[in-house]
Amino acid sequence: MLIDGHGRRVDYLRISVTERCNFRCRYCMPTTPFEWVSHSEILTYEEMFEFVKVCIDEGVKKIRITGGEPLVRKGTPEFIKMISSYAPDIDLAMTTNGYFLDKFAKELKDSGLKRVNISLDTLNPKKAEYISQKDIFDKVMAGINKALEVGLKVKLNSVILKGINDNEIIDLLEFARKKGAMIRYIEFMENTHAYGELKGLKKDEILGIISKKYSIKELGKALNSPASIFEIDGGYKFGIIDPHKHDFCESCNRLRMSASGVLIPCLYYDEGQSIKGALRDGDIKKATEILRDVLKNKPEKNRWEHNMADSNISARAFYQTGG
Ligand code: 5AD
Ligand code: SF4
Repeated sequence: MLIDGHGRRVDYLRISVTERCNFRCRYCMPTTPFEWVSHSEILTYEEMFEFVKVCIDEGVKKIRITGGEPLVRKGTPEFIKMISSYAPDIDLAMTTNGYFLDKFAKELKDSGLKRVNISLDTLNPKKAEYISQKDIFDKVMAGINKALEVGLKVKLNSVILKGINDNEIIDLLEFARKKGAMIRYIEFMENTHAYGELKGLKKDEILGIISKKYSIKELGKALNSPASIFEIDGGYKFGIIDPHKHDFCESCNRLRMSASGVLIPCLYYDEGQSIKGALRDGDIKKATEILRDVLKNKPEKNRWEHNMADSNISARAFYQTGG
């Protein structure tokens, strides 16, 4: 079992399989990074799988594949298949921008993927192009529909930005309800990569807008998730992810691995340790020792506040850690 230095059980692994992405979302990766991590620096799927097996043997129950965009990397469905063949009951999920789902959803489902979280910030094709700096809308819609059609469980993620998509909060909610998918509004997190003029809506502002049309019941925090869950008349549930609050750390069960094999104990924490050398040497014992050490030092509380106090902005890139 994986227990961290504060007695929390860690049973959720998030793997960023690539930092690359085919979108250039203004709040995440508005310009192409000066330099990508080269392919040789990135763990192969076989190397990742060696580590995944250790985690599963140690009681990890949920694995999420993230990016960048995980489907720009070749072999992602095969990686899913390796994991699900080893542990058919594992809760296997992916966070994706949806662009390639039309093509891959069926293969992913057949490979053992159970759930997808798809980014959907707007229902307006022009705005989608403005936000992601690419003509994406029809492909993302086709992706959402295909994912639902093949039986993947779907959640939709929307980052709400002032003056950009804050007039679509209700439309997005009603769209998601019609599709039978939960929508989660994510507060924009300021970071040095995002375009500077962006301003996000906070949880209370989002709730204020929804409450003009629907009465809202607060259901509390989702288990092991930073989302607060709400219900509107008729029983439809939606979530709000409020990273500016810190009430999630206490029950944090997560560990992250970057594409190049750095184990990251906390999203808002700059220390991490690499297991790449150990994996490349075939020394799984050493990789496990590093894992235990990272967990021992998993911070009790995130450093978001410190980061914000120092510079008012975080240098953490979403596309490196998978959010
Ligand atoms: N603030 C909030 N959410 C972000 N995402 C990416 N960058 C940011 C940011 N700066 C979200 C995407 C996607 C998820 C992986 O992270 O919209 O849904
Ligand atoms: Fe790509 Fe997702 Fe970042 Fe947009 S938010 S640039 S889709 S990784």
